[in-house]
Amino acid sequence: MSLIKITNIKRDFVLGNEIINVLKGIDLNISKGEYVALMGPSGSGKSTLMNLLGCLDTPTSGQYILNGNDVSQMSDDNLAEIRNKEIGFVFQTFNLLPRTTALNNVALPMIYAGYSKSERLARAEQVLKQVGLGDRMDHEPNQLSGGQRQRVAVARALVNKPSIILADEPTGNLDSKTSVEIMNLFNEIHANGNTVILVTHEEDIAAYAHRIIRLRDGLVESDKPNK
Ligand SMILES: Nc1ncnc2c1ncn2[C@@H]1O[C@H](COP(=O)(O)OP(=O)(O)O)[C@@H](O)[C@H]1O
Ligand SMILES: [Mg+2]
Repeated sequence: MSLIKITNIKRDFVLGNEIINVLKGIDLNISKGEYVALMGPSGSGKSTLMNLLGCLDTPTSGQYILNGNDVSQMSDDNLAEIRNKEIGFVFQTFNLLPRTTALNNVALPMIYAGYSKSERLARAEQVLKQVGLGDRMDHEPNQLSGGQRQRVAVARALVNKPSIILADEPTGNLDSKTSVEIMNLFNEIHANGNTVILVTHEEDIAAYAHRIIRLRDGLVESDKPNK
């Protein structure tokens, strides 16, 4: 069974009296445990597709079945619940809460998932150790390097044991050495059985993935295995 099954997805935006067809009919199947890079030139629709995959947005038409649930036409509340359970996000700009320790940043998504405080802190500690930050748990974001901040964000993405890790340009704000460290971390996360989807416009980052999907002008241009 596909973890992600997308059929003829379209996404239009209305801008003034103009309709912009951003995604023009995308079909995609992604199985549990895959490691996928989503590539394409700027403006090709990567972030729009990522927002749909991550249940941050719904399509204008077409169907999206995520882990057996039809999320194509779900209400915002139901979508938020699915998102919290199924998706772990990693962003280019880390998106951590300032003046909040690494431990509390990582524990935060567990509040909405209904765990007790002691469960949250124990799990957050475990995941921070997993990403190599066992000695930085009480540091706030501005006391951490860019690479360490992204590790905190990866730990936060993992904390609720989601079905999919979605990363939009996760190395976009990192130097090349730190980028390699973060990509090695994604390799480990994938090797642990997680499904990883990363958006990038950099070939050397996409090279880590086992499948490369290329978008062009709102359509899938190519979809090929990479290892
Ligand atoms: N909310 C929106 N309203 C209008 N146009 C949008 C909106 N979001 C994205 N677009 C347009 O859709 C196209 C694809 O955007 P995006 O998905 O961000 O591309 P990418 O991530 O591949 O660079 C762009 O031309 C962009 O201007
Ligand atoms: Mg983008």
